[in-house]
Amino acid sequence: MSFTVPANLEAEIDKLITHYPVKRAASLMVLHAIQEHFGWISQEAVEWTAKKLELQPINVYELVTFYPMLRQQPMGKYQIKVCRTLSCALGGAYELHKHFCEKLGLDAHAHGPQTTKDGKFTVEFVECLASCGTAPVMMVNDDFHEAVSHAKADEIVGRCK
Ligand code: FES
Repeated sequence: MSFTVPANLEAEIDKLITHYPVKRAASLMVLHAIQEHFGWISQEAVEWTAKKLELQPINVYELVTFYPMLRQQPMGKYQIKVCRTLSCALGGAYELHKHFCEKLGLDAHAHGPQTTKDGKFTVEFVECLASCGTAPVMMVNDDFHEAVSHAKADEIVGRCK
């Protein structure tokens, strides 16, 4: 197995586990720690986590496949998330998503997150970001953007270095 967890991360994970009455209860926190370090959760990471928590890999894999915030593939440096729930859909979210995809050379009709070849941007739809009155709404990593016109979208991409 080529997957290696650095000693400081493993120490952090060991400490995390002590916060829970049973090892399994720490699963999500351990996965978050791994994703924060590696950027995504590989099959090897699933196996490592299962071993660490004395579980079967399927017990960890079912979490990774259930929660959309847990990533099963490497993401771009800038993750563009466009809300597509009703208010945003009516406010132009699909056109906004298409605009990003066209600008970045991605396929607007492909299923799931699309990442540019240089690994700089990932574009994807997400569900309601809880600001339905200011549609269309989107995020770039942890930054929130409201009432995003195509011109504003271009500005936002231009600021991503
Ligand atoms: S529908 Fe987009 S923020 Fe709620």
